[in-house]
Amino acid sequence: MDIIRVEGGHHLEGSVSVSGAKNSALKLMAATLLAPGATTLTNVPNISDVHVMGKVLKGIGATIDVLDEHTLRIDTSSVDSWEAPYELVAKMRASTAVMGPLLGRFGKAKIAMPGGCNLGARKIDMHILGLEALGVEFDTEHGYIYADARAGLTGTNVTLEFASVGATENLIMASVRATGTTVIDNAAREPEIVDLASMLNEMGAKISGAGTPVVTIEGVPELHPVEHRVVGDRIEAGTFLVAGALMAGPAGVEVIGFNPMHLNMVIRKFEAMGISFERTADGLKVSRVERIEPIDIQTLPFPGFPTDMQPQAMTVSALADGNSIITENIFENRFMFASELVRMGADIHIESHHAMIHGVSGFSGAQVSSPDLRGGAALVIAGLTAEGITEVSAVHHIARGYERFVEKLSSLGAHVEHASVPDPDLD
Ligand code: EPU
Repeated sequence: MDIIRVEGGHHLEGSVSVSGAKNSALKLMAATLLAPGATTLTNVPNISDVHVMGKVLKGIGATIDVLDEHTLRIDTSSVDSWEAPYELVAKMRASTAVMGPLLGRFGKAKIAMPGGCNLGARKIDMHILGLEALGVEFDTEHGYIYADARAGLTGTNVTLEFASVGATENLIMASVRATGTTVIDNAAREPEIVDLASMLNEMGAKISGAGTPVVTIEGVPELHPVEHRVVGDRIEAGTFLVAGALMAGPAGVEVIGFNPMHLNMVIRKFEAMGISFERTADGLKVSRVERIEPIDIQTLPFPGFPTDMQPQAMTVSALADGNSIITENIFENRFMFASELVRMGADIHIESHHAMIHGVSGFSGAQVSSPDLRGGAALVIAGLTAEGITEVSAVHHIARGYERFVEKLSSLGAHVEHASVPDPDLD
């Protein structure tokens, strides 16, 4: 069994560069389906979710050349099937992002129905309602969704019940090839959506308003391949900033390779907790916080506080001088990591989607298990501050979204390593 072993108490110093954003790269890879020919993506993170999306694309006939560790040339000229199979959708729900582009280019898609995941039920009803409005007919059979738009996609007005990231992306990717104009109201505004719209516009699409609640897409007859750089990962950046806030030595920790504007709300909340940041030429520098103020945070769609930073924020608040409250509004199961943090000495009480956190003076190293990607990263960071050794298991979750997490932390001076321990099930 692979684990990450952390020896707590060592200061972090230096500069760390974040990779391209997972949640952008996956959708940009799917979007290459819209432009027959070879699209080149640079700054692609080398993480396991990207490998899964690569398998989805290859499975339907795309060819992928890895030009270097972070550059993929994806040729979708000879795509000849329209299926995202169960074994890949079950591994990674974001495989469903191929639905919009497959409908846009071929008018059909067969997608395994995503079940729940460790963040909750995670339905895709809004994707389906929106696509139906564009003229797609759906059928479900044997665990698969069959989507048919061979009669053509027609632009229309779609109002999303909730600003869903995935639904906004699938609707944009289907409607770029529709006849007429589509207006998505209450669209998600995440920077990754802006990145997707930018690449599609470079390909010849006519999308305006990405990054605002109203996105307008004028359909075009065809798109052409381009070269595009994936936006820097704001969540990876935020994760390293939290590590620095808790453990930086006198020289601080600088995080580069992302746009600090994408973390405005995170920075505002962290400043209210007493953490100080300094703009540098390439990113942000964080200093170690002396006294952590308690905080009230609720997760919301962008530009609100991101759910993907909630476990990291809870880790900080668990060490605050007072009582904090964190409300999770996006995913029903995103507090699972809290019970692992309690094993390290945190004092957290969960009541439905609220967490009441009574600050403690420190964590004690323990064996804990990553419940999911962001929770796993937060546990490693908790381990950096803890007295003694922390062993984090189920680290495949972390590898889904953090490229070389252990190596990057080590480069800052953390005492952290990958290790193998006997699997308890086999004893
Ligand atoms: N929802 C529905 N019906 C839908 C779509 C969404 O009920 O048709 C619900 C979901 O169940 C969830 C909420 O709405 O409770 C938000 O879902 P959204 O569609 O916005 O999220 P997503 O597209 O599934 C992406 C990221 C997540 C990130 C969220 C919110 C990717 C691959 N995933 O998920 O990233 O937390 O947006 O910002 O882009 C992560 O990176 O750790 C991660 C989970």
